[in-house]
Amino acid sequence: MSSLPPTSEPVTDPGPVWHPGKTVVLVGLMGAGKSSIGRRLAQRLDLPFIDADKEIEAAAGCTIEEIFERFGEAAFRDGERRVILRLLDGPVHVLATGGGAFMDPLIRERVRQVAISLWLHADIELLLKRVSRRSNRPLLKTDDPRTVLERLIAQRYPVYAEADLRIDSADGPPEVTVQKVIEALHAFASARGLPRAMGAGR
Ligand code: S3P
Repeated sequence: MSSLPPTSEPVTDPGPVWHPGKTVVLVGLMGAGKSSIGRRLAQRLDLPFIDADKEIEAAAGCTIEEIFERFGEAAFRDGERRVILRLLDGPVHVLATGGGAFMDPLIRERVRQVAISLWLHADIELLLKRVSRRSNRPLLKTDDPRTVLERLIAQRYPVYAEADLRIDSADGPPEVTVQKVIEALHAFASARGLPRAMGAGR
């Protein structure tokens, strides 16, 4: 990409037509940038992009806020599990998951079997800055999002750490983070001897 600063190790950049041959699952807390990075990553890898939350809303015929209000969190988690397990059985794509999805042992196990998981890590200040832009997250309908996020960090980061890869989500142009993700995927795929899938994944 011409707008990117020169990378210090250009040899690790696999170029625009490469993808790792497996679905890439983005994991991380609300505000980590999973959808924004995922969409751009999919474009760069020439793979379809799927946002699990949007798929859950389509399957339920209502918004996530409404699912939480009408049926409660447990029902949301059941739907989330069903939808994500179905998506993981489909063609290779980039999948942005909701922040709680990777906490589900069945989802984690399936991801481990069929996909590459990547934790988009962000510190609390960046998460707070990002989540303040939207008010439709049921878990953050509170006067004290910092305390909620701190609790979720304590509960979830040890589990997110089981992901295959971890990348720090940069507070800047998303392309910088996307480039880091691509290089990490390439290194991971090379180390694992995964087939170097080339060209369109559709
Ligand atoms: C949730 C995160 C949300 C959404 C739901 C629950 C969570 O997705 O799935 O509100 O438990 O962290 P994002 O992480 O995309 O905001």
